[in-house]
Amino acid sequence: MTAAPALQVRDEQEFERQPEDYKTAVRKIVRSHAVNELYGAQVFDEPAIALAPTPYAKWLTCRVAMEEYGHHVRFRELGEKIGIPMQEMTPHGKKPLSIFEFPMKTWAEFCVIKLLADMAEIIQVEDLSTCSFHPLRNLARMTMPEERFHAQFGREFCTELCKTEEGRKAVQDAIDRYFPMLPAFFGRDGSINNAQFRRFGIKQRKNEEMRVDYVKRARQLVEVELGLRLPTLPRAA
Ligand SMILES: [Fe+2]
Ligand SMILES: [Fe+2]
Repeated sequence: MTAAPALQVRDEQEFERQPEDYKTAVRKIVRSHAVNELYGAQVFDEPAIALAPTPYAKWLTCRVAMEEYGHHVRFRELGEKIGIPMQEMTPHGKKPLSIFEFPMKTWAEFCVIKLLADMAEIIQVEDLSTCSFHPLRNLARMTMPEERFHAQFGREFCTELCKTEEGRKAVQDAIDRYFPMLPAFFGRDGSINNAQFRRFGIKQRKNEEMRVDYVKRARQLVEVELGLRLPTLPRAA
């Protein structure tokens, strides 16, 4: 069987001419990003400004919060152009992901969220940066440097916290409680949605492949760079 030439959808007008299945698949991804970027900013990034211990940390946290709200705005704008009703792009219109159920109360927890969750987001955005729908590809490429900054923010503040025994314990404790929530972020193994996304060239990798890559990168970060322990997952990836 010879492979069909890779589908490329250059703009919203070309999008309109695509089969319904393609449009539905792209809308699912854009909607999910619009909802989750907004919810993450509301439950983690904005409240973290009050938790940040110094003016410098507050300043950088404001920047992170601004950028996460900005991601929502960009995804929502794209969503509107491709026919997603506005009310479906809010946490009221669609249930946010379970990673946002973590009850964040401390600065150390926020730093661990940025360290671990934003790295998971980087893996997703990397995958979208060669997406067949160019406006989504461009959005992913634009978002990437900001997500990298958020992960770097998490890394630097966790490193800083780990300089004291108390801080080190707080970071390890937050990792122990938060890391087990993250593998679910990549979706189910053998996902039908994901197979559809790959068939249309919207996504490149399987959920399970991204999850394995994620755990590998998280291990490097936590165990090698921070010298802490990565908790074992019930189902080792
Ligand atoms: Fe984001
Ligand atoms: Fe982020």
